Amino acid sequence: MDKKIIITIDGWSSCGKSTLAKQLARELGYVYIDSGAMYRAITLYFLRNHVDWTKHKAVEDALKHIDLEFQSNHKNGQSEMYLNEENVEYVIRDLVVAEKVSDVAAIREVREFAVRQQQAMGRKKGIVMDGRDIGTVVFPQAELKIFMTADNAIRVERRFRELYEKNPNITIEEVKSNLEMRDYIDSHRAISPLRQAEDALVLDNSKLTIKEQLDIALGWAKERLEHAGNNHKK
Ligand code: DC
Repeated sequence: MDKKIIITIDGWSSCGKSTLAKQLARELGYVYIDSGAMYRAITLYFLRNHVDWTKHKAVEDALKHIDLEFQSNHKNGQSEMYLNEENVEYVIRDLVVAEKVSDVAAIREVREFAVRQQQAMGRKKGIVMDGRDIGTVVFPQAELKIFMTADNAIRVERRFRELYEKNPNITIEEVKSNLEMRDYIDSHRAISPLRQAEDALVLDNSKLTIKEQLDIALGWAKERLEHAGNNHKK
């Protein structure tokens, strides 16, 4: 039987991590997990239920009522986030959630809750997971760790185009300040801050097409698969 590996993709917000992760997973026949969706779904629950996340007890109690699950959408084959059996894949991308998610993701109890589930999902390997701490904390033993980066202006432009489709009232300044704020909080928090794992390979996609970045990452994956004593063929 083919040996499988774990691939982690970390990096700044709106670097194209999920685009690459989804394509890699499809090419390799692996499971794709968007760890950010879990933090977003928890944030959505907190907002809807007026949870005061500055209070440990309130957070602990709320987490007991949160069930997170990824389910495959049969129409497009994409994995989607379910919060207590409700499909929240669309609503968690809203700016209202984006404005608070970095604060919620900095809470110890929230991270322990999410990381435990993420590690369980990787038990059988054959997984591509993207996020901020996947190569450093969730799967420090992963066979392939990618750290993605891109020029700030390009990231803002990409995220703006994405959000504008859903909400034409959004401005580029709003998107820029949200990205800057999230990058700052994500990389300065006390627990599991965003940082490049020492053994991560850096992929700067500022000037790469989607196809080019996929080819680079696939090359790395195949190399690691061979290294893992695998006879995987594509
Ligand atoms: O990847 P994203 O933009 O959907 O992530 C949403 C937020 O969740 C982001 O601001 C940082 C946080 N996050 C995290 O702290 N750790 C992860 N593994 C993934 C996301």
